[in-house]
Amino acid sequence: MAKATVEAPSNIAFVKYWGVEDLDRAIPRAPSLSMTLRRCASRTTVAFTPDSSDGDTVLMADAEGSLHPANDGFAQPVMKHLNRLRAWAERSGSFRVATQNSFPAAAGLGSSASGFAALTLAALRALDTWPDAATRSALARQSGSGSAARSVLGGYVAWPHGDNHAAEPIAPPTHWDLRDVIAVVETEPKPVSSRQGHQRAPSSPFYEQRLSHLPERMQIARTSIEARDFDRLGPLIETEGIELHLITMSSEPPIFYWKPATLKVLEVVRAMRSDGLAAYATMDAGANVHVICPPQDEPEVAARLNAMNDVHMVIRDGIGPGPTTKVEDLF
Ligand code: PMV
Repeated sequence: MAKATVEAPSNIAFVKYWGVEDLDRAIPRAPSLSMTLRRCASRTTVAFTPDSSDGDTVLMADAEGSLHPANDGFAQPVMKHLNRLRAWAERSGSFRVATQNSFPAAAGLGSSASGFAALTLAALRALDTWPDAATRSALARQSGSGSAARSVLGGYVAWPHGDNHAAEPIAPPTHWDLRDVIAVVETEPKPVSSRQGHQRAPSSPFYEQRLSHLPERMQIARTSIEARDFDRLGPLIETEGIELHLITMSSEPPIFYWKPATLKVLEVVRAMRSDGLAAYATMDAGANVHVICPPQDEPEVAARLNAMNDVHMVIRDGIGPGPTTKVEDLF
């Protein structure tokens, strides 16, 4: 039996992936760009035995580390991805998998990105194979969570709309210390999966127009990261966060990921800027708000979000180095 454990972080997109060309292979209609986080992460242990008779087992670890069988909604896509990885490695045998998240799952905090990145990397190690970074990213993408393609890398990451459909690093975490203060206003799973949202995106009358802006936005995001220019990057982050939801709300049928509390946080973030703080908000497919800011403004941003009745929890995260194997096994 071979066993490996990987902890992979979530990421927050500055330019959003929304809409697919090929759903099963998670080939996007658009480029995207993100910052890999440090604290919001999934830890996954994978054991592989060449004996196929056992079948695959998928477990969830609770906060204390006790293992429980995963429910079907979680286990099915995991098993599908294990089949894909086994076929890719041309191996036969059984997997035993356990996962633990450091943050609420399925609430727009990117737990599918971190979870499938950790699963892909731990399974590859357990299969005793380690392809190049582009192949690792492309394999993570095929899990069905496209943003997992970016979570296999650290720092600032672009997923261009290129031929190999893999993400690539654009700057290491040491290049620029940015923080992500997450206002958690909702911990329940989102009402409509990203998978359905990607499918519905082209039904928005604004979708083609959105696609036409993205090459320029990718360019601005890249150059402002290179130049550490937050005055240029910040407004773009917030525009992208809002525009994603413009598309979801104008899809057929519409999807409302925002809650009233989401709008209240957006208002507080605008007030922060009027008071001289450098803070810009973005949301993924969920109600929670990520407030991106430089380190000197983080304590005040966190204090103001913590003071809001509608905010259940504030997670102070920031740019991180990407996946690591230097963690304890879950079994
Ligand atoms: O990774 P998926 O397939 O769950 O899609 C999520 C996409 C967004 O988080 C909404 C945007 C992004 O680029 O991460």
